[in-house]
Amino acid sequence: MLSLLAPSACVLVGCIFVSSAEVFSLSDQYLPLWNETPGQFSDYSVENGKYIIDPWVYPKRMGMYKILLNKTANYFEKFAPDNEQNFLWGLPLQHGWQYKTGRLVDPTQTTDCGYESGDRLCISVDSWWADMNYFLCALPFLAAVDSGIMGISSDQVLLLPPSKDQTKFCLNVSSCQSSFPSTMRKWNALYKHLQSPSSSFEDLLKYLWEAHVSSLKDGYKIFEDRLEYYSKPEAGFGKDWCVVLDYLAAASFPTIFSTVSEFQQALPPRVLVDGDKAPFISDFTDLQNIVLLGLNLLHKVDSSTEFWEVTINVVCMECVLFVPSALAGICEERSPRKETADFNGLGKQSSIVMARIIR
Ligand SMILES: *[C@@H]1O[C@H](CO)[C@@H](O)[C@H](O)[C@H]1NC(C)=O
Ligand SMILES: *[C@@H]1O[C@H](CO)[C@@H](O)[C@H](O)[C@H]1NC(C)=O
Repeated sequence: MLSLLAPSACVLVGCIFVSSAEVFSLSDQYLPLWNETPGQFSDYSVENGKYIIDPWVYPKRMGMYKILLNKTANYFEKFAPDNEQNFLWGLPLQHGWQYKTGRLVDPTQTTDCGYESGDRLCISVDSWWADMNYFLCALPFLAAVDSGIMGISSDQVLLLPPSKDQTKFCLNVSSCQSSFPSTMRKWNALYKHLQSPSSSFEDLLKYLWEAHVSSLKDGYKIFEDRLEYYSKPEAGFGKDWCVVLDYLAAASFPTIFSTVSEFQQALPPRVLVDGDKAPFISDFTDLQNIVLLGLNLLHKVDSSTEFWEVTINVVCMECVLFVPSALAGICEERSPRKETADFNGLGKQSSIVMARIIR
């Protein structure tokens, strides 16, 4: 049992992130169809003086990210050349992963939306992943338009509604602001500070994560029932993922190209089906199996008090075995105490250490 649980500590302390960073390359491996993706507003059609974007077509949605990355590039020049330190890369990378792993298809299978044999580029409104991503695409994009950094005015862009549930999605700057005021303000705060020459990378990353978590919370409330369309393991993974993001946020995980693309190699390469049980999924790599198990464990730890005692010991043992003495020190200091709150503290502290290791 111990040897099975043991690697999960890696998720907490970030063993998988420690290895050297991936070479920065905009290959299709990480960003499918990136080269065919629209990269400027003039690539979209115009009606009544507004750019019309259909976010339910994969390259069109991806194009919003491409424009966002392009328009924010100059604010990241002071950190590194070639947009390499732009932490907005995490958003298109995750969307690319969703597309590549089949997570944007119609999970109810009542349409051919997203399927290889049907309309591959279609993004299904019934996909939980696609709906969650909408809040991490439309909102950051429209807030950027509103902040002025995109070079067009707030009323100059309109997103097309999906085929159903239209009222759950905001389509332009003003409707997003009235439906999700708090989240839009947080994205705006990020862009405001981005334009300030005195902002540090760490400060900006904090604004990014505040907005990111707020977007996810908005989306989660609205679309939780979509998880019912999935197998138990996939629905569980979706929920685990949201918990993990809280930890990544607490750690200010730098969502730049190299760290996110490396992290993705550890994520499930296809939608999970009934019977998939980490760490025994035969077509997954060891790393993918271990991380899936670890994400699940992290969620259990996050939500349960009973599990605490077993886990803390396993985790700390792993700290001692695998990671530098600094981490072991934290564990020794913390482990005698029993409050769950303390364990959460440890998890968050470990994540913070993790973030430091990466830098
Ligand atoms: C942004 O896009 C424009 C137009 O496609 C291009 O000329 C420019 O080099 C791009 N800038 C960056 C930093 O990618
Ligand atoms: C934004 O969309 C709403 C409906 O979703 C519409 O009533 C409003 O006129 C639009 N505003 C602009 C500036 O286009």
